[in-house]
Amino acid sequence: MCLEFSKVNNIIKPFYDIYSFQIIPVLGQLLASDYNSYKYLVESIRMFPDQQKFAQMIRDAGFSDISYENLSLGICSIHTGVKNSF
Ligand SMILES: *[C@@H]1O[C@H](CO)[C@@H](O)[C@H](O)[C@H]1NC(C)=O
Repeated sequence: MCLEFSKVNNIIKPFYDIYSFQIIPVLGQLLASDYNSYKYLVESIRMFPDQQKFAQMIRDAGFSDISYENLSLGICSIHTGVKNSF
């Protein structure tokens, strides 16, 4: 199982983008004196494959019974896969 930041649904995406790019780095600066790390965090979340693509990557890696569940409209998702080894 893997809990990761993921792709949000299109309805909240404009708000989530403003929050991510305009507010999170500013909070990082105010609370941790580190704007750039929080900007990088937001950018790295955007680089992560979307739900369908990540599910395919898990499948390609040899896992079966692949599924995922969106949390908070896709802000995060839990991916599940099973691998039998013997
Ligand atoms: C999860 O969220 C993504 C992005 O919004 C969407 O494309 C996908 O259909 C959703 N999948 C499920 C199972 O809810």
